[in-house]
Amino acid sequence: MQRLALAWRARGEAVGFVPTMGCLHSGHLSLVAEARRRVGPGGKVVVSIYVNPTQFGPREDFAKYPRTLRRDLRLCREAGVDVVFAPSDQAMYPQPPGAGFSTFVLEEKLSRVMEGASRPTHFRGVTTVVAKLFNLVLPSVAVFGAKDFQQAAIIRRMVRDLNFPVEIVVAPTVREADGLAMSSRNQYLTGDLRVQARVLSRAIREVRARVRKSRAGLPAGRLRGVVEQIVRTAPDARLDYVEFFEPETLESVKRVRRGARMALAVFVGSTRLIDNAPL
Ligand code: PAF
Repeated sequence: MQRLALAWRARGEAVGFVPTMGCLHSGHLSLVAEARRRVGPGGKVVVSIYVNPTQFGPREDFAKYPRTLRRDLRLCREAGVDVVFAPSDQAMYPQPPGAGFSTFVLEEKLSRVMEGASRPTHFRGVTTVVAKLFNLVLPSVAVFGAKDFQQAAIIRRMVRDLNFPVEIVVAPTVREADGLAMSSRNQYLTGDLRVQARVLSRAIREVRARVRKSRAGLPAGRLRGVVEQIVRTAPDARLDYVEFFEPETLESVKRVRRGARMALAVFVGSTRLIDNAPL
């Protein structure tokens, strides 16, 4: 991949990049469309498909994460992607005796809260693999989904702190008709769990309506109570966290006003779902 990327760079081609873990859905395809818009018809669009082991915790769903490469390749072809980069584990994280892998990229502030508090090694894996992918694909622009808002903020910070010559674009979350944010993990939601998963977007809508109605803002504690109540209406749902924060710094706010952002993680059955939105 890197040799091809260096050839493109030598010819001055713009390269738009969408890193994914595969099992592509309309959310991913909207990122591909955004990458194409950014680089124009003459530029190159690259999608990577790699289920990155270092961003999964020991008790998480790495082994069962859906892998649908043939279908993903077809979707990429239909979406006008120029190159799909699907490296092996051995290529990304060489194992002894040939070689070992021992260098990680660690963002130390924004990664501590929310997803980082619940999944302590997750963002170390994300920043490490994204740094590697940037060095292999050499994109001029990379597109991430707002669904993983914290991830996008951390990547932006990494790019700024480590001077990666790439522009980071964050594209809006794509939702199902009933409000559920699109995610490859939605496939785990069988039977009634799919309906119960609506509590995430319902909680966001309810909090947003309340915040927009109030002039002086509302206490975060009270809004947390509202979210807890909504999540309790789904018998198999359990709130992991809900946070109200400044979108730039991810610092939590005590009084929630318009312009703040909200994020939540909810277990629906054994599936952990996340969502977030501006208020
Ligand atoms: O958002 C994802 O799918 C992954 O975290 C990413 C950015 C592809 C890194 O593995």
